[in-house]
Amino acid sequence: MKRSYWALAASFSLLAVALTVWQSLPSFAADEPPTVRPFSTWPENKAPDAALFITGRQHGYIEPCGCTGLDNQKGGLARRHTLLKMFLKKWDMKIAPVDVGNQVRRTGPQAQLKFDTTLNAFRVMQYQAVGIGPDDLNLSDLLGSIAGSELCVCANVDLFEQILTHKVLNVGPKKIGITCVLGTEHLKGIRNADIQTVPPAEGLEKAIEKLTAAKCDNIVVLAFASMDETKELAKKFQEIDVIVTAGGSGEPTLLPEKIPGSKALLLQTGKKGMYVGIVGFYDDEETPIHYQRLALTSNFRDSKVMLENLKEYQENLKARGLAGLGLKPVPHPSGLTFVGSETCGECHTQAYEHWKKTPHYHATDHIVKPLERSDVARHFDPECISCHVTGWNPQQYYPYSTGYVDLEKSKAMHGNGCENCHGPGSAHVAAESGEIEDLTDEEQNKRRLQMRQTLLQAKTACMECHDIDNSPDFHKDGAFDEYWKQIAHPWRD
Ligand code: HEC
Ligand code: HEC
Ligand code: HEC
Ligand code: HEC
Repeated sequence: MKRSYWALAASFSLLAVALTVWQSLPSFAADEPPTVRPFSTWPENKAPDAALFITGRQHGYIEPCGCTGLDNQKGGLARRHTLLKMFLKKWDMKIAPVDVGNQVRRTGPQAQLKFDTTLNAFRVMQYQAVGIGPDDLNLSDLLGSIAGSELCVCANVDLFEQILTHKVLNVGPKKIGITCVLGTEHLKGIRNADIQTVPPAEGLEKAIEKLTAAKCDNIVVLAFASMDETKELAKKFQEIDVIVTAGGSGEPTLLPEKIPGSKALLLQTGKKGMYVGIVGFYDDEETPIHYQRLALTSNFRDSKVMLENLKEYQENLKARGLAGLGLKPVPHPSGLTFVGSETCGECHTQAYEHWKKTPHYHATDHIVKPLERSDVARHFDPECISCHVTGWNPQQYYPYSTGYVDLEKSKAMHGNGCENCHGPGSAHVAAESGEIEDLTDEEQNKRRLQMRQTLLQAKTACMECHDIDNSPDFHKDGAFDEYWKQIAHPWRD
């Protein structure tokens, strides 16, 4: 008998799915989920016996990714919690949240705090199993974070016996066996000598043996591995019913994929925590497993509990301060120092007056009061500061000496100032203000030229901040000209 595992029309666009399913969603508050049944394409009048709520590859995006208005952005722990609560409270579904892993993408104290914030969120949401991603493994105090939590699962990675090889979840009447695995290529990048690993297939074999012995109704594997390796593993272990991969490149597929030579259904996490996958298990010969992909759009209000968790994260960042987060200002590669936009404005009055009318002037204000985002101030968060002040490295999130350090002490460095594009101005200003005796014309000109930035150079420089996450419109054809027009300042005096 041919089994059809899913029942979703492929032609539905993502938004259409979200909207047909929960038409009235936008008007619901976080704690007031809609009254309609969850998925129009799932068996009518019959909730699954058990379901999994699958997330993964958050990659540092504990908030919706980007800076282009929350309506355009997907993801975030606060929306995720709201969705989960709908399943649990409104539809009374037996659903267990699990995660494929990789909560962070960087190392250092801020990443560690972010990991802990995510673990707190997992506790609130009662996650049942969480895989370990390659970047998680390079956190300096991973052990401190996970010790005793019994949350982390990986069949082929361990850290002082704090990572379980598998877990049997009792979800409603079903026993769902879960294990996670870290792919071969990711094993190579591990820098923590305390971490023990075995090849994926070796770990998986043992874990699946135990899950089979425990008489699980279904076996689900969460694979932080490439697409190819995930498929190979699915073929090797015929016991697997569902395998979730973090290996996909774009959005997760709308429908599960069948893997030739395996009975397993392949699902993808997608990236940046923008999607949740829901897998429903039914006692049904024909279609025992249903799947639905959901985007965490702004249709989902923020959960208050989760906003509190995020606020605590910001308070922790504030308490640490830049030094406590391991950020030591480094000299600018040019060897020069920042003087602040107001100083430039003493001579370049027209450029300065114009700059004050552009959004760049307000960039710092907008992280102190982040408009439509929650009212939590973000000016202690290096991952916001870096593009919203003067004198930082936007993509590497660290300050240059004499760049912005503090809202009060660094008033001259508020906003995306002149020197972010033209470079630190100390030498030029000294040369123009008559401070240097015997200054040759040649030297003065040289220093002026140091400040010159051509439009062509600017284009790349803009994208240090106007990157694909934070300014996707900037990357459309012809966008540069439109953006430049708004900030052009063709005056020398
Ligand atoms: C004390 C006055 C003074 C200050 C302060 C000053 N400049 Fe200038 N700047 C000048 C003069 C004069 C010129 C040459 C104008 C001309 O060529 O007509 C100039 C030229 C420039 C040029 C054009 C270079 C070229 O030839 O293409 C840039 C860009 C520039 N300044 C940026 C800045 C920035 C940024 C600051 C602040 C860090 C700044 N200036 C501060 C006086 C000043
Ligand atoms: C150091 C980071 C940084 C650099 C470099 C930068 N920008 Fe921006 N830009 C920002 C930030 C931050 C904002 C949002 C300011 C706000 O409203 O808080 C912004 C906003 C803008 C806006 C307003 C957009 C809107 O929707 O209103 C324009 C236009 C713009 N930038 C153009 C440019 C251009 C052109 C360049 C390169 C020549 C550039 N920016 C380089 C950080 C940067
Ligand atoms: C890599 C650079 C970068 C980082 C990091 C960054 N921003 Fe932005 N932000 C921008 C740019 C660029 C814009 C302007 C986008 C546009 O209009 O195209 C912007 C715009 C904004 C705006 C104005 C949006 C609007 O509707 O006008 C707010 C608020 C904001 N950012 C908050 C934040 C917060 C909070 C963080 C930290 C979580 C952050 N930003 C991190 C670059 C960045
Ligand atoms: C977002 C990047 C950016 C910011 C911020 C910025 N500039 Fe510029 N500026 C440029 C670019 C790019 C050019 C070259 C434009 C061209 O070649 O057409 C330029 C040109 C200039 C010129 C030469 C103008 C001319 O037509 O010869 C001066 C002077 C200048 N800027 C001063 C300033 C001052 C002062 C500030 C701050 C008040 C400032 N700029 C802020 C990118 C920036």
